[in-house]
Amino acid sequence: MKPIVIAIDGHSSTGKSTVAKKLAKELKYKYVDTGAMYRAVTLFAMRNNWLQNGEVNESKLVENLSSIEINFEYNPEAGTNDVILNGENVEDEIRAMEVSENVSSVAKIDEVRKKLVQIQKQLGDDKGVVMDGRDIGTVVFPEAELKIFMTASADIRAQRRYKELKEKGEDLTFEEVLKNVRHRDEVDSNRENSPLVKAKDAIKIDNSHMSQEEQFETILNLAKERIEA
Ligand code: DC
Repeated sequence: MKPIVIAIDGHSSTGKSTVAKKLAKELKYKYVDTGAMYRAVTLFAMRNNWLQNGEVNESKLVENLSSIEINFEYNPEAGTNDVILNGENVEDEIRAMEVSENVSSVAKIDEVRKKLVQIQKQLGDDKGVVMDGRDIGTVVFPEAELKIFMTASADIRAQRRYKELKEKGEDLTFEEVLKNVRHRDEVDSNRENSPLVKAKDAIKIDNSHMSQEEQFETILNLAKERIEA
């Protein structure tokens, strides 16, 4: 049995990370949430006041990229792989709506992508990894043995995200969340650098009407076929 790379790309709030985490646990693989890395860089820019009203001070951020260190640390209590930004656990902070609203402008900066892609390649060097994001199957691991492209209607994704944020106590309306989902789709799909596109050899899964269990079983079977090949 040979370890493989499983790349899970797709639109925001399609449940990529939920299924990716479950797969990694089942296969005893490493799980890498690349969106969390873009969120951590966004938080860093916000804390330095280089991000205001969705406008990022690109030159300041790029100038200071070398002072950003991103790691992952397994949190046994929560069973999560938390993001560590310069030694600080920022897992909760990077999920806030304010970060979601700003992350697209940071993720389109070429130098930011170069830095994060390099780290991602290192993390998947030994294979045995499930990595989720937007460009894993196209840019980070174009040779990945299994590529999944997840999608669902914007309305359904916004409903899922709204429920999640409400449960966390965030005060916002469904319309705000839907607007954010649509905005991120637009920016992620139309940016010049590594836009969100389905790799030719990726398997598309529209999970608008699929349960988490169904998605998990489908992808697990595809992974097993490749691992045992
Ligand atoms: O998966 P997420 O919603 O946490 O990702 C946050 C943002 O980061 C999303 O708007 C797109 C961007 N992103 C990216 O450009 N490339 C990746 N590999 C992962 C995320």
